[in-house]
Amino acid sequence: MTPPVELAPPPPAPTGPPFAAVPTTSAPGSLHVRLVGALATGDCDALRGAPALDRRDRFLSLLSVYDLHTAPLEQIGDTVRFQGHPGVAELKSRLEAEWLGELERSWQGAGRLAEATTPERAAAAMRSVAARDRLPAAYKWLAKDAGWFEVVDFLALEGGPDGGFDDLVSTCQIGLSGSAKLELAQNYWDEMGNGDPAAVHTRLHDDLVAAVQMPQVPRSAMPVEALERAALGGLLATNRWLQPEMLGALGLLELQAGPRCRLVLQAFDRLGAPEGAYPFYVEHAEVDPRHGKDWVEKAVGPLVAERPDWGPRIVKGAWWRSTVNLAFFQALHAHLTEGQNQENSAA
Ligand SMILES: [Fe+2]
Ligand SMILES: [Fe+2]
Repeated sequence: MTPPVELAPPPPAPTGPPFAAVPTTSAPGSLHVRLVGALATGDCDALRGAPALDRRDRFLSLLSVYDLHTAPLEQIGDTVRFQGHPGVAELKSRLEAEWLGELERSWQGAGRLAEATTPERAAAAMRSVAARDRLPAAYKWLAKDAGWFEVVDFLALEGGPDGGFDDLVSTCQIGLSGSAKLELAQNYWDEMGNGDPAAVHTRLHDDLVAAVQMPQVPRSAMPVEALERAALGGLLATNRWLQPEMLGALGLLELQAGPRCRLVLQAFDRLGAPEGAYPFYVEHAEVDPRHGKDWVEKAVGPLVAERPDWGPRIVKGAWWRSTVNLAFFQALHAHLTEGQNQENSAA
């Protein structure tokens, strides 16, 4: 994994947002602007019935609501007091209902996957969904063709294969018992570096960010597909009734992460990435195939054996994650290759 010595270290990436075409402020009068104002003044009743202008406005608004549930307190300050305000709850459930309608419609194309009511069928369905887009074109392009700046921009938006995974796993295990509880606990402990502070996955990601001087991309500069992908974790983590879907979505992430991380490592080798970039992706390339297998066999299987009606819902959560993820990678790939083509034709 040591980079070839003859390659010069890549230069730091430019600090501009990767998606220059994305508006960097919310539109005046947007629901997001109104929500931020309401949280500042406490007038959250004014949010009742207020519509989102479009999908982008919906996800920016929902992400701000999810922050009240899951973001570090120092980031959200006193606004956290409005987490359960009836005006915020009304907005949240209304926007989520629209979104869940769209996700349900995407599931209509899943065919026989919806019949996964036994552990064996659920396992096969999970693997089938994972295989559907295990290696999106974006990762193959990253491994073979992308320049260094494109790699850094890609990783800045990708946020690692499992951004925020530790808190999601801890939320997902609430109320479980037996084998599923133990599997999620084992997974969580791996996220915690098995007790070694220097090996905690968020710390490894921080080290990666420092090593490649990765820009922080604010939500305001993200494409709508990235906002939806980020919001899916919030949707699942703040709706207890979606626990089966959450189990599926997190399991899918584990099933797909290993091969994707190996392609990131190929890009690092090809471009002579600094050593500090490696540990985060090496860890996930090695550990996530086991995480995926164990999640299916030790968490999904026993749960579906106990509760057959959870099977199709677990697979549906995997499908949701897969669908949202694929849209994100397609948008990212199109944008970054377009930028690369423009640079080539200007050269
Ligand atoms: Fe991780
Ligand atoms: Fe993992």
